Amino acid sequence: MKLALSTLTLLCVALAVPFTPYQTPLADADAFLEQFDGSNPEWKESHAQRDGEFSYVGRWLVEPAEVSVLEGDKGLVAKSPAAHHAISYKLKTPFINKGKDLVLQYETKFQKGLNCGGGYIKLLSAGPELDEDFNNDTPYQVMFGPDKCGSTNKVHFIVKRKLPDGTYEEKHLRTPPMAKVLDLSTLYTLVIRKDNSFEVRINGEVAKAGNLLDELLFSPSFNPPKEIEDPDDVKPEDWVDEAEIPDPEQPEKPADWDEDAPLKIRDPSAVKPADWDEDMPAYIPDPDAEKPEDWDDEEDGEWIAVEIPNPECEKHGCGPWEAPLIDNPDYKGKWTQPYIPNPDYKGPWAPRMIPNPDYYEDINASDLEPIGGLGFELWTMDKDLYFDNIYLGHLVEEAEKIGNETTKVKLELELKLKEEEYKKADLKVDSPITDEESPSWTEQASEYLEFGLMFAEAFINQANNFMVDLLDDPITVLTDRKKEGLVYAAVFGLIFSVVFGVVAVVLLKLTLGLDEGVNATMTGKEMREKREKDELEKLEKLVKKQQTEKQQSEKLEKIEEDVKSTSVKTSKTEVSKRG
Ligand SMILES: *[C@@H]1O[C@H](CO)[C@@H](O)[C@H](O)[C@H]1NC(C)=O
Repeated sequence: MKLALSTLTLLCVALAVPFTPYQTPLADADAFLEQFDGSNPEWKESHAQRDGEFSYVGRWLVEPAEVSVLEGDKGLVAKSPAAHHAISYKLKTPFINKGKDLVLQYETKFQKGLNCGGGYIKLLSAGPELDEDFNNDTPYQVMFGPDKCGSTNKVHFIVKRKLPDGTYEEKHLRTPPMAKVLDLSTLYTLVIRKDNSFEVRINGEVAKAGNLLDELLFSPSFNPPKEIEDPDDVKPEDWVDEAEIPDPEQPEKPADWDEDAPLKIRDPSAVKPADWDEDMPAYIPDPDAEKPEDWDDEEDGEWIAVEIPNPECEKHGCGPWEAPLIDNPDYKGKWTQPYIPNPDYKGPWAPRMIPNPDYYEDINASDLEPIGGLGFELWTMDKDLYFDNIYLGHLVEEAEKIGNETTKVKLELELKLKEEEYKKADLKVDSPITDEESPSWTEQASEYLEFGLMFAEAFINQANNFMVDLLDDPITVLTDRKKEGLVYAAVFGLIFSVVFGVVAVVLLKLTLGLDEGVNATMTGKEMREKREKDELEKLEKLVKKQQTEKQQSEKLEKIEEDVKSTSVKTSKTEVSKRG
């Protein structure tokens, strides 16, 4: 372990490139870039309180990453495990995206991985609330970025939108992409264009794209549905619900339909083999069986040798011959009246659609309210979440360039580092000198198991996301993602049937197998002895049970007494205190 760490440090030094902040001035006056190089010291840790206690006890530090590939590079690090963290930055001038594109980009590196924690950023609404301590209720416009806990893993994209009645509603991207939770620098980019289109990019690659006004993409949608089901419409009493009816033209069983014809019959074309010996018995008493010495004919009955299959019959058939069974061509089974489509059926009843009285059109969904600041407000179980290179601006190309010159450089160096590590590890396994270090089969098995578990977890994640979406909006999910749903259903079905199958077989073995075993190997006397022994054991158990029950009730009584005496004591001391 020490060796690995020291080689890692060596490699770091070997790979480290001096950090220089992004130099080019930003194109727009209200654009913002934060590289934690000391030029914006105004980040403010939240000391918000709730019920007289500090809500955000997690510590923030500006420091280099633990495995730093750029010498002198620093980021903002959420330091505390299992704690709420909040920190914000108030922009010098509010950021206005009206009629312009908005690009929000930042870098994450979950240095200890991300098992349960948020890594998202909020664009805070401009307003007097920004001068108060940042907290969960501070108004925001956009929430964007990774969030993972157990089976939930997503890159949030939420717009908090003002409705015509003045209240706000969170519009959630319905099927967000999965977050990257490895300890590697990762770049998250959100683009909201003035034409209402949006993109979520991870490391420069588009992970999700669409239009804010697409009703299927956001929950709830930015614009409510134009039409809704008429709540006053009622189903007519004479509505026909049956899609099919029994065929009136075939009310009775046809005369030639024989319900009693058997499923199988003896093959009429079969012929008895010439060498089949009907007189030879198929079973004979075991010639090797011997009467046990302690067998008592009077008590145990007449001794009979066990029968075994006649070895003679292996050469040719023995015993009474019967033709083999075949499917009966005349088999018809029970007759039922056939069904035909109901001519009166008009389909399932649904209320008529009427114009939605609450309809409104948010045609400029991309126009956010002025943004006064940025902040992280997170709960995390994992510590050392590293954030860097935050950009809020209007130009995709500018964000790309910054990403290419910062996060991308780091990621490439980090990948090179990982590659070296893996190479080292591989060499160790292959080299003959370190024979004893080659993984044992248990280690290999546990690796496979780990991989399997990882795979299973990923699958369960996906299925869980699907279920969440399904519950959220069953109709769209069922129409758009039918295949996905079928796969989950099939896999879970398979797992259940395998598990139940195994349990059933084991139970069967336990119940049947035991009895058979006992019968096959025991003589009458042994069985009788066993029965007597069982009875005795039962009796002993009963006595023991009664004893423990008695002891328990005694104990309980004692405890009750103790409690009574202590409460008497306490009330006495209280009285004496008061006195
Ligand atoms: C950033 O890098 C990508 C991939 O190398 C490239 O396609 C893109 O043009 C670059 N963007 C800018 C603005 O340099």
